[in-house]
Amino acid sequence: MDKIFITRNWHVDAVKLLENHFEVIVWNNSNSPTEDDIIKYSKGCFGVFSEFDDIITKNIIDSSDQLKIISNRAVGYENIDINTAKLNKIRVGNTPGVLVETCADFTMGLLLDLARNITYSNRAVLKGNWKSFNQTPYLGTDVYKKKLAIIGLGQIATAFSRRAIHGFQMDVSYWSRNRKINLDNELGLQYIDNINDLISSCDYLSIHCSLTPETYRIIDKEQFMLMKNVKLINTSRGPTINQDELLIALNNGNVESAALDVTDPEPPDYNSELVNHPKILITPHLGSGSRETFNKMALMAAQNIINVHKNHEMVSEVIID
Ligand code: DGY
Repeated sequence: MDKIFITRNWHVDAVKLLENHFEVIVWNNSNSPTEDDIIKYSKGCFGVFSEFDDIITKNIIDSSDQLKIISNRAVGYENIDINTAKLNKIRVGNTPGVLVETCADFTMGLLLDLARNITYSNRAVLKGNWKSFNQTPYLGTDVYKKKLAIIGLGQIATAFSRRAIHGFQMDVSYWSRNRKINLDNELGLQYIDNINDLISSCDYLSIHCSLTPETYRIIDKEQFMLMKNVKLINTSRGPTINQDELLIALNNGNVESAALDVTDPEPPDYNSELVNHPKILITPHLGSGSRETFNKMALMAAQNIINVHKNHEMVSEVIID
């Protein structure tokens, strides 16, 4: 029987599914295995089922003897050396689509939290600062009919825009590599072809673009300087913003508050000024983390492996140019 190595012990249903076809070796730990561990346990395996923070290096791929598929339980695959995978004729799978609505819910949650100082005021309550009825230190901003700017209009940002427009009648503008005219018409989105114009007049800014050399620090000093009391949300990848400049922008008021579900690095430095800033809300890369979606992503990653084994098309394959 062919073997699969799965790099976590969280995925009961996915393991059951895989066990119908393979001998499954489960990494019995909730932390990522080291490079040496992955090399050791994936020896002789047909597939590796990986998580977003397992760094699948050239060394791992070159050391594998039977490997045919690396199936990442994530949309992103920057943890995998895909060029080496291609050279070794190893296919790579990912799990887009199933997480879209879950991530959009989470982004809306972060926006509402920032708008109304929910986490900020909760921290004050925990410190014993609720002495009498006094809203003034925690007054937030409305969401209804406010201006939302979006960078990168993929599926998640589209689902988020629907919530913002249908639920809160927000005025939504976006910048994206490609203009989506159908969505402009359907949802009443406004496309702005210059990021600096987009961010200089918004109340809320949400980043959704994938991380590429072009989007590395797409929000940097120049952009922060243009913002006016913006509430910033990042659920894409940490390096899309320059965090040192974010700290300056928070201190001088260009950014009123920020919610980061992704940081650079992950996890962040707990002693840093940014992490401890009162107007920063950091969550542990949790956008797709509902119970339902966590499981759906795992089942999809498992199915990608099964499909390769059966010579069927993968549910989602990363095409390596
Ligand atoms: C993804 O799917 O790429 C997330 O960011 C990690 O789960």
